Order: sequence, then structure tokens, then C-alpha cells
Amino acid sequence: MQQVRLRAALVGCGAFANAALVPAMRAAGIEIVAVCDPNAERAQATMKSASAGAAYGDMSAMLAAEAVDAVVMAVGPTIYPKLAELAFGHGVHVFVEKPPAITVAEAEAMKRAAARAGKQLVVGFMKRFATGYRMAKEITEASDFGAVRMVSARITTGVWTPAWSKTLTPLSFVLDHSVHFLDLMRFFGGPVEWVSAVKTQASSERFGFAVLLAYQGGAAGLLEISNYESRGVPNERVQITGSDGASVTVENVSRVTYTRDAEPMVPGRAFSPQRERLVWEPNMTNISAENASLVHMGYVGEMRNLAGAIVSGLPVTPSINDAIAALALAHAVVESDGRQINLQNEGEV
Ligand SMILES: NC(=O)c1ccc[n+]([C@@H]2O[C@H](COP(=O)([O-])OP(=O)(O)OC[C@H]3O[C@@H](n4cnc5c(N)ncnc54)[C@H](O)[C@@H]3O)[C@@H](O)[C@H]2O)c1
Repeated sequence: MQQVRLRAALVGCGAFANAALVPAMRAAGIEIVAVCDPNAERAQATMKSASAGAAYGDMSAMLAAEAVDAVVMAVGPTIYPKLAELAFGHGVHVFVEKPPAITVAEAEAMKRAAARAGKQLVVGFMKRFATGYRMAKEITEASDFGAVRMVSARITTGVWTPAWSKTLTPLSFVLDHSVHFLDLMRFFGGPVEWVSAVKTQASSERFGFAVLLAYQGGAAGLLEISNYESRGVPNERVQITGSDGASVTVENVSRVTYTRDAEPMVPGRAFSPQRERLVWEPNMTNISAENASLVHMGYVGEMRNLAGAIVSGLPVTPSINDAIAALALAHAVVESDGRQINLQNEGEV
């Protein structure tokens, strides 16, 4: 039986689309029917590299001419609300990169537009599909892990310029960079009841936040985000701790350490294969399609998830509700100034 492939059009042929989305869509078996970008040179170059059939300067003209199931957008959150509404008008499903919009109200309007059109609206939180984070999630869901009680993460970077904003502010930084990790904190800890954050700022370019989260399910979360560090070193670490002596740590997205409830050191203590730590990292000595960085970083899984859900007609997870919750968290972090901010309508994760 021939497999049904998702037919998609790419909207926005910039740096990120070319570096990650085009190869990930191809690896996921998505047919890239056409591309569009008002910058004709980029549209032409991407059409060739994506082996697409046509290049356009305008999304509506493209959707009027091409038969596609979905559009995959990598433009920026100031324009996604308008483009998404236009795309729904053409009867296609919509994937937008994170963040879906600047404000929660705009993202909620996008959700309503998707519901009116009866189409899916998917937001690019690829970290949920990264190999190490998926392994960690599976470990935390096993019965011997106990209930998740702590989620502790530090996710920093160097000086950062959001492509769509050009202006670096604490809000544009948190919306562009940290929104991934606010989603990840929810992925591991569940819906958030309240958040509080303290800002530290050294200059107009260098700042960060220490974030405290209270989860609805009773866990507590700690998140450090900043651009004080260097973009040249690994700067991502997440630890999830269960209620019964187990924890799982993911460093550099790829190194997973599963710590079980081992015996303390006593005379004659033996090595226990059931209770010592286990470490997993990718085997970089083996060439295989599944051992590519775009797989380990989650971009390929994200596109497989999109294609699988749309082709089978199932709702996509993470949903637009997750994206709205991450956006609400991002605004709360920037506005908190040490105050506790209660989160409303926290639902799915
Ligand atoms: N998930 C991730 O890891 C990740 C990483 C980087 C960027 N991103 C996201 O990807 C998006 C794009 O970022 P980028 O760095 O590629 O930016 P970019 O500026 O390099 O590319 C954006 C492109 O969109 C085009 N564009 C502008 N208006 C358009 C329109 N109306 N229709 C079609 N194309 C239009 C521009 O000409 C440009 O080529 C942003 O939303 C950003 O947050 C995600």
C-alpha cells in the first residue's frame, strides 16, 4: 500500500527554514510542493534546495495556485496571526514556528480562527521531540519513578538578537529564546499554577531571570534563563526528580543520566545493575539517518508528528493550548518582578 504523504508549502525561506525545517521536512517524508518569500532570491534558492515545484512572493497567491494540505511558516510572530488567518481561509492546516504571536490575545484569536476553519494549528516546540528529552519523559512516566516533584533547568545563551524583532529586550528575548524552555518546564512538570521571576540585568544586551514555578500537580520548578554566557558552549541542563529517590538529567540535550535509588556506601556494597546510574548518549561513531543532529534536536520528530497527525486526522500534540500557556508564562516571567503571578486556563501539556 502506498503511504500517504503530507503535501506542504513553506512560508518564509530565511536562515532557520533552510537550516532546520527544509531538511527536517524532507527527513520526515513531507512533500514540499512550493515555497514562498517576498525575497525572490531566497525563494528561488530554497525552491531548489527543497526540490519544490514552484516559488512565490506571496502566500495567498501560492495557496490559490497550489493544492496543499498544510503550510509550514518560519517568518516571525508579528506576522503569524495575519498569515495563519489567510491560510485558514484557503482551507489548509497551519504550522508556525514559536512563538505563535506576541500576545496571548493574538494567539487565542488564532486558535478561534483554526476552530472556525476546522483545521489544525501547530506550534514548533521541537524540544519535546529531542531524543534525550523524549527518553527523560518516558523515564518519568514509568511507575518506579514515582510522581514528578522537582523540575530544575538552566538554559542560557550568549548575546541574542531575535530575527523577527531586531531589537533585544527582556520580552523579545524570553519570547524568542526562552519560550522553548517554558514549554519544556510544562512538558515535564505539567500545568503551572503560578510563577514568580527575579530579573538580573548587567547591560541593555545582557540579562536573565531566575524563575520559580508552582505546578498544579504539586511539583516545584526552578528555571535559570539568561544571555550572560557564550553561544559556543553547551548551556542546557534539565533535571526531573521523582518522589522516590529517582531522577533523570539531560545535559546538552543529548546526555541522559537516569539515577535510581542506589544503596549508600557501606562495607561490602555491591554494584547493582538494577539500582546504579545509567547514562545514554548518542553513538557518534555510527552513520545512520536516526543519528543525525536534526533528529536528536527534535526537528525531524516534530515534522513526523505534524505529518502523522494531519494525515491521520488526529489532533496534534503539543496543541495551540500548550503554546498559549507557554506564551502566558513568558509574559508572566517578564512582568513578575518578584511577584507571584497566577496562571489562568492552564490545560494540556
Ligand atoms: N525552533 C527553533 O529552533 C528556531 C530557531 C530559529 C528561528 N526560529 C523561528 O523561525 C522564524 C524565522 O526565523 P529566521 O531566523 O529564519 O528569520 P529570517 O529573518 O532569517 O527569515 C524570515 C523570512 O521570512 C520572510 N518573510 C517575511 N515576510 C514574509 C511573508 N509575508 N511571507 C513569506 N515570507 C516572509 C523574510 O523575507 C525572510 O526570508 C521565527 O519565528 C523564529 O522564532 C525557530
